[in-house]
Amino acid sequence: MRVDIVTIFPDYFSVLDLSLLGKARSHGLIDVRVHDLRDATTDRHRTVDDTPYGGGAGMVMTPEPWGRTLDAILGATAPDPLASPGVDGVAADDAPTDVAAPGVPSLVSHDDRERPLVVFPSPAGAPFTQATARRYAAESHIVFGCGRYEGIDHRVFEDTARRARVELVSLGDYVLNGGEVAVLAMVEAFGRLLPGVVGNPESLVEESHEDGLLEYPSYTKPATWRGLEVPAVLLSGHHARVAEWRHEQQIERTRAVRPDLLAGRADAAE
Ligand code: ADE
Repeated sequence: MRVDIVTIFPDYFSVLDLSLLGKARSHGLIDVRVHDLRDATTDRHRTVDDTPYGGGAGMVMTPEPWGRTLDAILGATAPDPLASPGVDGVAADDAPTDVAAPGVPSLVSHDDRERPLVVFPSPAGAPFTQATARRYAAESHIVFGCGRYEGIDHRVFEDTARRARVELVSLGDYVLNGGEVAVLAMVEAFGRLLPGVVGNPESLVEESHEDGLLEYPSYTKPATWRGLEVPAVLLSGHHARVAEWRHEQQIERTRAVRPDLLAGRADAAE
């Protein structure tokens, strides 16, 4: 799988050399290329931002360096008339529903699956979830564009939507200084789902969010530590009882901190 990341802070991504993802990169399972947006500037100061039209605080990232950088990654294809902004597209049955970038035409069709996916992290985006991570892990090429300041000139999303599928995605209801940390989190979340990245794929199955619940608490040796005992059922060797206890723990935990996840679940009825 190929991943391109556009940023004004390429150093943020040096950590992708570490741990499981680093190994996955060195084994060729994931090909990550980081692009410095400032390399596409033309002035002495390598400027990437300007004041917002209409006034207001902060600065907005200018479209030209983004256009040049994305042209180099995606190819400067002539605008597809069917996909030009303002023209309604046809949504396929399997079109993702959690992805439309506000103001960016949602133009997903079966042919679109062959167009690269370009993701802009933004607090104004659709929530990134485990389902999004699974969907990204099935892509062959994703480009991430890291915004800074008050965001990116909106025409960059519209222009990119002429030759790629564009998604604005949020990590959560809080504001980061830029998209870099969000991209690191997303790459880790989908990267570990790629075949061969996590040694024992079974460990992916029993995790938080895979079955819609938070995961159960885990214990290892010693059986007693600082006067605290491992729950007796886990030492019983009785697999069915262990499974039942773990499921109850999942429900209890989820009810305590994420009751929203339990809505409509028969196994969580009180
Ligand atoms: N950029 C700034 N805040 C963000 C957030 N919450 N999620 C994704 N990208 C962001």
